[in-house]
Amino acid sequence: MTKKYGIIGCGMMGHEHVANINLLEGAKVSAVYDPVPELAQSASEKSGGAQVYGSISELASSDLDALVIVSPNYRHIENLEEITRYSGAPILCEKPLYTHPDQEARLDKMVEAHPSPIWVAMEYRYMPAIAAFMAEKDDMTGGIKMLTIREHRFPFLPKIGDWNRFNRNSGGTLVEKCCHFFDLMRLITGGEPVRVSASAGQMTNHLNETYNGEVPDIWDGGYVLFDFDNGMRAMLELCMFADGTMWNEEIMAVGPKGKIETRIPGPQRFWPPDLGEPPHAQLSLYPRSPKRPVTRNIEVEAEILDAGDHHGSTYYQHQKFLDVINGNGEVEVSIEDGKRAVKMGLAAQKAATENIVVDLDF
Ligand SMILES: NC(=O)c1ccc[n+]([C@@H]2O[C@H](COP(=O)([O-])OP(=O)(O)OC[C@H]3O[C@@H](n4cnc5c(N)ncnc54)[C@H](O)[C@@H]3O)[C@@H](O)[C@H]2O)c1
Repeated sequence: MTKKYGIIGCGMMGHEHVANINLLEGAKVSAVYDPVPELAQSASEKSGGAQVYGSISELASSDLDALVIVSPNYRHIENLEEITRYSGAPILCEKPLYTHPDQEARLDKMVEAHPSPIWVAMEYRYMPAIAAFMAEKDDMTGGIKMLTIREHRFPFLPKIGDWNRFNRNSGGTLVEKCCHFFDLMRLITGGEPVRVSASAGQMTNHLNETYNGEVPDIWDGGYVLFDFDNGMRAMLELCMFADGTMWNEEIMAVGPKGKIETRIPGPQRFWPPDLGEPPHAQLSLYPRSPKRPVTRNIEVEAEILDAGDHHGSTYYQHQKFLDVINGNGEVEVSIEDGKRAVKMGLAAQKAATENIVVDLDF
């Protein structure tokens, strides 16, 4: 039987979720809510006629098989709490799970009260290039010793209500966007972080903008360095004024046997049409001995690629979430994974703000 989804938050990413659920067999968006009625209406049209609700409580009380939270970061915790009051259905909640350490206890209480699985949306895990990297990393490196994740990209896009311009709404750049990369670090290294140092800040972006007289305080770049409990080291390099770059993400890992690297271009819609076809993601293998570098393209089916800005990952994640709804699959990104990614981001923000090394103990 077709599973009915409710979408909470119908902005940019909410529309991407609708486009990808539309592609799934056995799933449809049948309810939407957004405080901006036009956005809820446009998501409803995109879904082929989902019911528009005027509140989360009404939406959650309707007959749904799953709920997807795609509101601004600082609303996630209250959305989770409200859903649990009215519905016991499985939830997919966008990252970051929360934005301030005080919210962790509320989250734990909510999770205890919710009878069904909760999956934290970490789309990067599901990019085909990253999945290919994961499949080959151990053979290629002989066990990773050093991991570098570099994101060089365009500045934060404008958002509904400009919520992403201020740390208090987003959790800070190292939480808001970098929780993806910290989640990947845990996934790739198979270890847990024990300490972090960082140098990061607001260098060029948004300094000429004001919102109700306030200049944004959101950071646009930096370096973050983690030590892991299994001896691996991992670094994030973030720069958000690198719009001219070919690759948005580059992930490199090196071990005693060799090196593996994946390069992922930015969203297709930002590629200048006069330059022809946008680049494909790539995977490179660099064995140490004999030295035989090999690079191959990682293709994504056009229909899936076109359904969002994240190289098909939103679709592949939804496929697996649907398995969970149908009782045929396990949650792959748990509440604990989501919490640890936030804690790594908050610790990195603290390390950079206070110029200290921060210990972590999961
Ligand atoms: N995983 C990814 O790759 C990825 C990419 C982009 C965004 N996101 C996440 O998705 C979420 C939404 O981001 P976006 O880019 O779509 O932002 P957006 O500003 O485009 O959309 C947010 C929407 O939520 C609505 N909203 C505001 N308050 C709300 C509330 N209390 N309850 C419900 N809806 C509310 C807004 O009106 C808006 O339409 C954020 O948490 C963001 O971090 C994830």
